[in-house]
Amino acid sequence: MTPTSQPSPDTVARSQLAGQPLLRVIYSAAAIQKRVSELGREIAAAYPPEADVLVLALMKGSFIFVADLVRKIPRPIQFDFIAAGSYGDQRSSSGEVKLLYMPEKSLAGRSVVLVEDIVDSGLTIERLTPLLRARGPARLDICALLHKRRPGLAEEPRWVGFDAPDEYLVGYGLDYAEEFRHLSCIGSI
Ligand code: IMP
Repeated sequence: MTPTSQPSPDTVARSQLAGQPLLRVIYSAAAIQKRVSELGREIAAAYPPEADVLVLALMKGSFIFVADLVRKIPRPIQFDFIAAGSYGDQRSSSGEVKLLYMPEKSLAGRSVVLVEDIVDSGLTIERLTPLLRARGPARLDICALLHKRRPGLAEEPRWVGFDAPDEYLVGYGLDYAEEFRHLSCIGSI
């Protein structure tokens, strides 16, 4: 087989964006992949060999991140999704978060890693973690790809991919009105 030359991340983003607004790339596909590999190694190293590790991906925004992340965790893990929704409409969240989907398998005694795309106000993890802790995991750690580092958060992720600028970011799972999730880079529109 002859080797093919790889298109640059910016070329990929441009081709994925055909007909859509221009994007300022903040994290290239290569930078994201490098950081995701580091996170995978850090997560694997954080748990003793006997720990029963369950990676829980918070839908929908984490779907690309978590698919890459789990393949970079060099230890046995199990995987499931969790889905949450907030009451209220898109513009005015009431701050109430309800669980829409939760795996049937017990969390009791397990080391749960909750994977989120981005921590902004922190409300989602603040509301979700008590619901998960009520199910009796041995530990609950949070891994967020992006963190906007707003002050006064009650709950902090154990692992963060990047400290994000205070801009609206899209791509690599993050959406604006359900668009842009499929981009392999992260940018600001
Ligand atoms: P939080 O509850 O304010 O921390 O917000 C978390 C959720 O809001 C994330 O899981 C995203 O779905 C969404 N979100 C927050 N900031 C952004 C952004 O810059 N781009 C896309 N989605 C975002």
